[in-house]
Amino acid sequence: MSSTLPLFPPSASTVAQDVDLLFFFILAVSAFFAVLVSVLILYFTFKYRAKTPGAAGADIHGSLTLELIWTGIPFILAMVMFVWGAQLFFTLSKPPADAMDVFVVGKQWMWKVQHPDGVREINELHVPVGRPVRITLGSEDVIHDYYIPAFRVKMDAVPGKLTTMWFTATKTGSYHIFCAEYCGTQHSGMIGQVIVMEPHDYEAWLAGGRSTGTAVENGEKLFTTLACITCHKTDSSGRGPILAGVFGSTVDLQDGRQVVADENYLRESIMNPQAKVVRSYQPIMPTFQGTVSEENLLQLIAYIKTLKVAAPAAAPQGGQ
Ligand code: CUA
Repeated sequence: MSSTLPLFPPSASTVAQDVDLLFFFILAVSAFFAVLVSVLILYFTFKYRAKTPGAAGADIHGSLTLELIWTGIPFILAMVMFVWGAQLFFTLSKPPADAMDVFVVGKQWMWKVQHPDGVREINELHVPVGRPVRITLGSEDVIHDYYIPAFRVKMDAVPGKLTTMWFTATKTGSYHIFCAEYCGTQHSGMIGQVIVMEPHDYEAWLAGGRSTGTAVENGEKLFTTLACITCHKTDSSGRGPILAGVFGSTVDLQDGRQVVADENYLRESIMNPQAKVVRSYQPIMPTFQGTVSEENLLQLIAYIKTLKVAAPAAAPQGGQ
């Protein structure tokens, strides 16, 4: 419906219609009450004006029925908005399990993109139509915000952590990307295009791109060149925890806490290893802050995620 309105961006994702519907519902409720209140004010101003000089209004002692009505109706309307909005929010927060992973790093003032097979691009994002895409977002410097109006999705890129967003494009074509968080003098120029392609066109585009190795391959190389491998061995002889099977597992920490080893945990453990030390290990790991870029970090995490426990034994203790 919205694509015919000139002020509206096109609708090109599976959630676009749902977001618009909620938006128009809230807009309609707000407009209805704004008009109702304004009209009543004008009408009562006229109706209850002082008809003779010095006239006094009648005393009003309240009405329980009226108070129940004007409390009950807004309450129900607010709850409808809340439940509806929360459902949509949960949908937007949970990427489908079969989503393809794309890494995006914001940097003053550009968007750097890496596809699963290693093809990179800047300020453009090529995606196949009809396939869920999960974007893992990082930032090299300040807070940016990856915003694709046509898909009705938007997520902050925050230095020091990883955030995710997802979408399934429904129409081929090219759509705007904006940075939606003021990030310095060239903020308004931090823009780009999403190019939604037919799956075979996307494959052809990928094949034509120059891949410098997949994220996992690059991560594996870094794991050796940064010497992670000297402490994180595949058996328990290492000075650091075994990393196989760590991703998604629950890790016992030295201070008694337990954490789930998600992407942000792995990120923190590389950049600030003393923050969450795994139980029965020493806090000896050096920080890689400043040594490892956000892109390298995403590659390392992609590699660590692939490390699986070989034997069907219980998952070992998690990584530091
Ligand atoms: Cu990046 Cu605004």
